[in-house]
Amino acid sequence: MIELKGRAVAITGAASGFGREMAMRCHALGAKLALADIDAAGLATLEAELKEMKADFFAAKVDVSKFEEMQTFAAKTFSLYPDVALFFNNAGVEISGTIWELSMKDWEWVYGVNVFGIIHGIKSFIPEMLKQDKEAIIINTSSLAGLISGHNSPIYLTGKHAVVALTEALELQLQQYQSKIKAFVFCPAYVKTNLHQAERNRPAELINENAEYYQTEDYKKKQGMMQYAVPNGMELDQAMDIVFEALEKDLFYIQTNPEFLPRIEQRFNNIMDNKRPVFAG
Ligand SMILES: NC(=O)c1ccc[n+]([C@@H]2O[C@H](COP(=O)([O-])OP(=O)(O)OC[C@H]3O[C@@H](n4cnc5c(N)ncnc54)[C@H](O)[C@@H]3O)[C@@H](O)[C@H]2O)c1
Repeated sequence: MIELKGRAVAITGAASGFGREMAMRCHALGAKLALADIDAAGLATLEAELKEMKADFFAAKVDVSKFEEMQTFAAKTFSLYPDVALFFNNAGVEISGTIWELSMKDWEWVYGVNVFGIIHGIKSFIPEMLKQDKEAIIINTSSLAGLISGHNSPIYLTGKHAVVALTEALELQLQQYQSKIKAFVFCPAYVKTNLHQAERNRPAELINENAEYYQTEDYKKKQGMMQYAVPNGMELDQAMDIVFEALEKDLFYIQTNPEFLPRIEQRFNNIMDNKRPVFAG
């Protein structure tokens, strides 16, 4: 495991869930923290706690879907803390529903955060981390959804597939250029965070005006699956133990729930056998 003491850790989506837990753990390990989130109130609560704990940190309101905001966050991070050991490229949101019914605003919102947010993070942090020429880590948060075929949350699932492929390409290029940075892709299944309430931080300009589809049983059923699965998922600290263990063991695909491995295997078997995925309800 990379030494974090005295070095900096930058985190997006820091005000809640995985980001917040990562911030607390890295502070406990002696790291300085650069924290970004779109949720100003959530950040303020975290800031108060960290001040109480005498943490060395700064927190910034950042919308990761906006490249300039991510660049400003990275610039502030490297000016205050020129030695970044870990970048947790993690902010994310969720929506479920049927592909042809979901609105273009839904696609723009979720891809803006979950896909472009990750790209903005890589483009803003990796060049500076390369210049450090020291061992460092980037963890991109994808999901189990990025590894399987599924029907419930197509915008989320396809975006998370992009994050897996992006991180594989990133890792290969980091090796190609013999860098000291290692990439990891975090693919949790269901973990108790506030992901099922992602709408709370949806920008006003991306809220659906014609809300008819969102009143249907189809939408409610699909969204209801996430509403149930996340609060009934794994405990957050258990999931974060798995992350740190994976970093220790150098496991590229950080997975929380081995019981879902057959779903991944099934997808790859379908590809190998050139079989159509079959709806299983
Ligand atoms: N919890 C799960 O079961 C689960 C499973 C698979 C993947 N994930 C992924 O984990 C990551 C973290 O989510 P979480 O589960 O901790 O949920 P969470 O809602 O508790 O935390 C996500 C954080 O991201 C922030 N955020 C949302 N939009 C943003 C934006 N535009 N710019 C900056 N910050 C923004 C939110 O304000 C929130 O603080 C996400 O990428 C999510 O897709 C979670």
